[in-house]
Amino acid sequence: MTTTATPATLKVGVVGKGGVGKTTVSGLLARSYCARGNHVVAIDTDSNPNLGLSLGLSLSETEAVPVLPRAVLVGTGGDPSADALLSSYGRSTPAGPMLLSAIRVAAAGAGCTCSGHATVRSLLGDALTGVDVTLVDMEAGLEHLSRSGGTLAYADVLVVVCEPTRKSVITAARTDALAAELGIGHVLAVGNKARTPEDADFFVSALAAEGIALAGVLPYDAQVAAQDRAGSVGLTPVAADVQAALDVVLDAIDAAMGGRPMTKLAEPSLSNDRHR
Ligand SMILES: Nc1ncnc2c1ncn2[C@@H]1O[C@H](COP(=O)(O)OP(=O)(O)OP(=O)(O)O)[C@@H](O)[C@H]1O
Ligand SMILES: [Mg+2]
Repeated sequence: MTTTATPATLKVGVVGKGGVGKTTVSGLLARSYCARGNHVVAIDTDSNPNLGLSLGLSLSETEAVPVLPRAVLVGTGGDPSADALLSSYGRSTPAGPMLLSAIRVAAAGAGCTCSGHATVRSLLGDALTGVDVTLVDMEAGLEHLSRSGGTLAYADVLVVVCEPTRKSVITAARTDALAAELGIGHVLAVGNKARTPEDADFFVSALAAEGIALAGVLPYDAQVAAQDRAGSVGLTPVAADVQAALDVVLDAIDAAMGGRPMTKLAEPSLSNDRHR
């Protein structure tokens, strides 16, 4: 791949089995991209939204983020600029990224979330021009890939988060197959919550057996877990080894994309001082 064909912008979908750490990893990756000087928009697509909590917002602030109406993107008033969209519907977060909320279930029996998924598809398609990194935290499972058109069809890369379980790797393999059908160019796994060297080795061997590239391994971090319990992830820097692992993941994504402006390139590695 040549660097001249590489887009200056990056659109990342964060997917995976339920509870593996998609929202936590989305928040950590988004703020790491910010720390590298990028203009970052994080989109919460979970019908039970909590990405704001992983970006340093309180529960009430997270719940106050307005859901982006579909009509804004398909209305008759012409295409809104990214700046206009973000100033009306985006919310700044203490962690740095701008947060958009695309889907929320506010009442029992309120109907399906199809229009929210279509909104995300449009956002990734052409609505957020000028944003350096758009990162989408998806709901668990595979439905977003099987929907008509595919919610993440315009993503450049899917980051499929795994935990050290066979089931999460099976979900990654199913994701990889569907992503190929949608024409999504890159699927990279992130091993999360590794507690032991055996966990890290499991990610390497199990994902290699499925033909899925491993972008990096994040340790199970007691501070991240404690901050999540307190509802305050994103307010303080993570431990140095966690940040180093996040930087390995960002570098691997950049390398897969052939290198982008504004971020440095480095060879991906699995070094993890805590476990090696
Ligand atoms: N690296 C980590 N170290 C410690 N705890 C973690 C780590 N990553 C995630 N967790 C914890 O795992 C739990 C699930 O995380 P999270 O909510 O991010 O998962 P999810 O995949 O988004 O879940 P869902 O499928 O419900 O959307 C949380 O308690 C979170 O604090
Ligand atoms: Mg989540």
